[in-house]
Amino acid sequence: MKLFVSEGNPHCLKVLAALEVTGVKCDVQYVNHEERVVPFLSRPALPALLLPSGLHLFSSNAICRYLFEVNGQDSSELCNHWLEWEATELQPALLHALHMAVLQGKGSEVSKVLQGPLNYLDQSLSKKSTPYLTGEAVSVADVVLWAALYPILSDSSLALGEHKSVKIWFDHGAAVHNLQCAAQKVLQGKGLQGMKSYMQKQPAPQSSQCRDTQPCNSSPAESEEGERLVSEEEIEAAALTWGKSLNNRPLVVNRQHPILPEEGKRNLLVTSALPYVNNVPHLGNIIGCVLSADVFSRYGRLRGWNVLFVCGTDEYGTATENKAREEGLTPQQICDKYHAVHSSIYKWFQIDFDYFGRTTTEKQTEIAQNIFWRLHEHGFLVEDTVEQLRCESCQRFLADRFVEGICPHCSYPEARGDQCDKCGRLINAVELREPQCKVCRQTPVIRSSKHLFLDLPKLETQLEQWLDKSTGTGDWTANAKQITRSWLRDGLKPRCITRDLKWGTPVPHPDFKEKVFYVWFDAPIGYLSITANYTDKWETWWKNPHQVELYNFMAKDNVPFHSVVFPCSLLGAQDNYTLVNHLVATEYLNYEDTKFSKSRGVGVFGDMAKDTGIPSDVWRFYLLYVRPEGQDSAFSWADMATKNNSELLNNLGNFINRAGMFVTKFFEGCVPAMELQHEDKKLLALVGWELQQYIQLMDKVKIRDALKHILNISRHGNQYIQVNEPWKKIKGGDTERQRAGTVTGVSVNVSCLLSVMLYPYMPAVSQTIRDQLNAPQSCINTMLQGTGTFVCALSAGHRIGTVSPLFQKLEVDQIEALKKRFGGQQTTAQAAASSQPATMPAPAAPAAAAAAAAAAAAAAEVVAVSGVDPEKAKQLTQAVAEQGEKVRALKAQKAEKTVITAEVAKLLDLKKQLALAEGKSPEPAPQKGKKK
Ligand code: MF3
Ligand code: ZN
Repeated sequence: MKLFVSEGNPHCLKVLAALEVTGVKCDVQYVNHEERVVPFLSRPALPALLLPSGLHLFSSNAICRYLFEVNGQDSSELCNHWLEWEATELQPALLHALHMAVLQGKGSEVSKVLQGPLNYLDQSLSKKSTPYLTGEAVSVADVVLWAALYPILSDSSLALGEHKSVKIWFDHGAAVHNLQCAAQKVLQGKGLQGMKSYMQKQPAPQSSQCRDTQPCNSSPAESEEGERLVSEEEIEAAALTWGKSLNNRPLVVNRQHPILPEEGKRNLLVTSALPYVNNVPHLGNIIGCVLSADVFSRYGRLRGWNVLFVCGTDEYGTATENKAREEGLTPQQICDKYHAVHSSIYKWFQIDFDYFGRTTTEKQTEIAQNIFWRLHEHGFLVEDTVEQLRCESCQRFLADRFVEGICPHCSYPEARGDQCDKCGRLINAVELREPQCKVCRQTPVIRSSKHLFLDLPKLETQLEQWLDKSTGTGDWTANAKQITRSWLRDGLKPRCITRDLKWGTPVPHPDFKEKVFYVWFDAPIGYLSITANYTDKWETWWKNPHQVELYNFMAKDNVPFHSVVFPCSLLGAQDNYTLVNHLVATEYLNYEDTKFSKSRGVGVFGDMAKDTGIPSDVWRFYLLYVRPEGQDSAFSWADMATKNNSELLNNLGNFINRAGMFVTKFFEGCVPAMELQHEDKKLLALVGWELQQYIQLMDKVKIRDALKHILNISRHGNQYIQVNEPWKKIKGGDTERQRAGTVTGVSVNVSCLLSVMLYPYMPAVSQTIRDQLNAPQSCINTMLQGTGTFVCALSAGHRIGTVSPLFQKLEVDQIEALKKRFGGQQTTAQAAASSQPATMPAPAAPAAAAAAAAAAAAAAEVVAVSGVDPEKAKQLTQAVAEQGEKVRALKAQKAEKTVITAEVAKLLDLKKQLALAEGKSPEPAPQKGKKK
């Protein structure tokens, strides 16, 4: 017999303790965590016991039981009860606790996590008169529980002494049976820290569905046909869960403001990068920041975490000043106007901020200046004379984004003054080779003036220490880590935090009276000030690193500011600020096979999505489906139609609709009685597994990947219905009819689960499904708990509501028209005034081009896609009139039908643009449902 164990693995402590107590003879071999000692398993499983027969045991409790059996002590029913309890109740809590204590330095919260299980154990022990759990003699149950609890209970810093009976039982057992010896071997005298490297390899605590020693992130076993095989244990466990009751704790989605951190909860502060106010966000912006953060926040609330989601517009800087000049408004007016544009776009996309603020507020000035003075006091600001680019023809200093040139690092020809989009490095504008003013294309000159710099080199060590910890324990996307690493590798340099501008937070220092803070110093402070405008108690979020976990969502170009520059500002201010724990950065989303471009008018911008007639939820679904997670991806109209028609309509919608219709048609709207057969339980297990995957992925913010598991569930469901044919069985004899009932009942319950899983992605559809099923609100509170809890939420007799189809088909012609409109007309209008003919599409109608050319002075870019513009409206009125004439003339000439249709299409489009420019909402897209 040979026992394989590894150091630092708490499960190994159990088997070594059992070996110690039983005195069974057995070789012990130490291997490392990753070693695959059981040849037929696709993953490492430790501890493992090689039996004389050549078979293996690889669950710690099974090994312990075996060792006791060898010693002549078979486990009693009561023993098995405790072993089960240990595996299913205690272990998940313990893993969570260990994760907090070992990796997150949150030892103080361990007692909360373990409260429930320890209370139960304590009560059970207090009722006993024997020194052991199951009688007068030590049993396998005692040993397993002692060993499981040993790391935690023997650490006095965790203050877990309040359970008296547990303490007596544990101290006695530890002393009499020499647990110390087994612990020494596994933890090597390092206490909890002895498990660090093991814990780092474990999945996040909320997702630790580990029953016993099975690693949770094991890839699913697949049969040759690619279908997942579920074990009999999984099937039985799923059937057991199914019978659990709903959780009635108050609905997490109905929140009370202000939301503040709470003791004993996971407190998540979620931010999305603050969008520049003067731009209308395009789909790429939306998926990278607000939509991703929204999905995660919604999910977090369902998980029962205490989430605060804040965002707002980033309003200061030259870009705003320019826009104001172009539109003849003051910067503040520009901000007000576009802040409203942003708000309404996000509202349409159902972005559920707890607060959506802005950076041009008094709180911003107050907090930014406070941080500034603290940095100053602590000696982290240095003064230097700077050479700046000034465009003499435009008569102003050029903000970084208004200079373009050749990247000094990688020679990319279109690098901006602050950063190169190719290599991602930050740039000092004066380092650009062959710089050009982006407005007038003249070569700027270099002028010098005195500025203040944040002394990043002085903060580097502190920062690195923080980053080690944060990236080691938090969920940082690979790109975020890599960009940060490469930035540190290049060595930090002081960063200028002041600018010669008017529109910004004033620098309070008397020597720099005329200057404002650089937006990238100022803007992230917006997270704090926006929170301060939400609640006076903002510091309970922002100066509370021990209670709060900070999640920053952004596109990858924002990474260095959030991982290096801003954390340095906060570290230097030395005010116990909450620093980023999880940095979630997307790659870029392209539009068809090109880039979104405001200046070229290519792509769908936030405010246009609603004019397509495609519901907000479908937009969300598709954007999340192609979320640039791990690599760039592309928005494509054709693909959107395909995904809508295949995944939403044929797969998900079809399943939910069929299930509901069966209830309505065959069972008078009441969920039928269910008698689960093996096949039904197997479905429950398959669905349960997908749910677990979903939870594990979502916990790690793998939003796109998690979505696929929702769709897998409805695929399983469709197949289940297909195989069981309830519509036939309902016409058969009693047994057959009962089968039809069971299959129908199970199916609507799967729909109910789907509605919950969909909630973060498609909130409206999620609600519609629950309305149709008349589902109890508590299903929302139940299904995403723990490692996933698929219960029977709609029991026999439950009356459902009115069922109707959830999705509509996107037709080819509809998609073609949209594609033309957003890649075509828009492009045409812009391209007429653009200096980038390479992307110019097919020529447009002269009238449209003329109108657009006139309208598209550089300033009009955004207006063209966003809102009221009287000047443009005038030109468009003219263009509409001309195009109308043309159409009438063609009709009079009895021109070819296709020619007329094309010109009419242009006319309609112009009318629509006109409506937009006049601030009216264009005529709603024709209702698809009514189309015959
Ligand atoms: N406005 C910036 C952008 O859209 C993001 C600023 S994020 C902040 O790229 F943290 F600095 F506010
Ligand atoms: Zn210029």
